[in-house]
Amino acid sequence: MRKILFLLSGLLMISGVFAQNTLVVYYSYTNNVRSIVNELSNHLDVDIVEILPAEEGLRYEADNYAIGSALISAIRDNPDDAESYPAIKPVDIDFSRYDNIIIATPLWWSNMAAPMQSFLFQNGDEMGGKNISLIVSSASSGISSVVEDAKRLIPDGNFNNTSLWINNGNRASMPNLLNEWVVQSGLQNSSSTSVPQIENDGKFDGAMYDMYGRKIDFCVKGQIFIQNGEKWMKTDK
Ligand SMILES: Cc1cc2nc3c(=O)[nH]c(=O)nc-3n(C[C@H](O)[C@H](O)[C@H](O)COP(=O)(O)O)c2cc1C
Repeated sequence: MRKILFLLSGLLMISGVFAQNTLVVYYSYTNNVRSIVNELSNHLDVDIVEILPAEEGLRYEADNYAIGSALISAIRDNPDDAESYPAIKPVDIDFSRYDNIIIATPLWWSNMAAPMQSFLFQNGDEMGGKNISLIVSSASSGISSVVEDAKRLIPDGNFNNTSLWINNGNRASMPNLLNEWVVQSGLQNSSSTSVPQIENDGKFDGAMYDMYGRKIDFCVKGQIFIQNGEKWMKTDK
């Protein structure tokens, strides 16, 4: 009987999923974004940089969000003035090492959280030509103004059209949503997709595998899976 060595990893290469160096830059005040980045690091071999405000201990939500509101207003009023952006602790990033940059940020008053805007104001020009993806966490507000902030601050970024929006309505499903988004965005790299060789005796058995090479029993609409040596996307429920 003819033995076929079916290399899923080879299939992943053919399907355009390949190793690229990825940087995640995140800011988190109340840990929601930190949780997302922690989950992301389970799937992707990434370098992670946290943005920290220079002034520690500020309570942005105190007095009906007075500080957070004032920071966002200052940026909205004068977005081209460096003085409008709150100071952050220095970061030293060699951007030449990265093809992909994921910006993970909270939403504040419909805009990107002020400390992340500070980081991008200072470094956005160095991110030109990079593949930029956004992960935004809010309580409920939509993220279109955060996307606009990112495009203003990284004018020459090559933006992923699909940003990941985690909010209080879908937060419980965050790991699955993140997993799907990572796959659909083509962000895996070889170290995170080291899948085992699967021996097949020539008769494909119809088993389904996710993009990590793990056998799955079912998949959800929009999920990419591999079956009988071919890559599929589930389109119905
Ligand atoms: C100053 C400030 C302003 C906020 N404004 C909004 C808002 O306009 N709409 C919204 O849905 N959530 C708003 N939030 C909630 C955060 O976006 C949300 O809790 C997010 O998940 C926080 O991420 P983090 O825990 O990583 O800081 C605001 C939070 C803060 C601190």
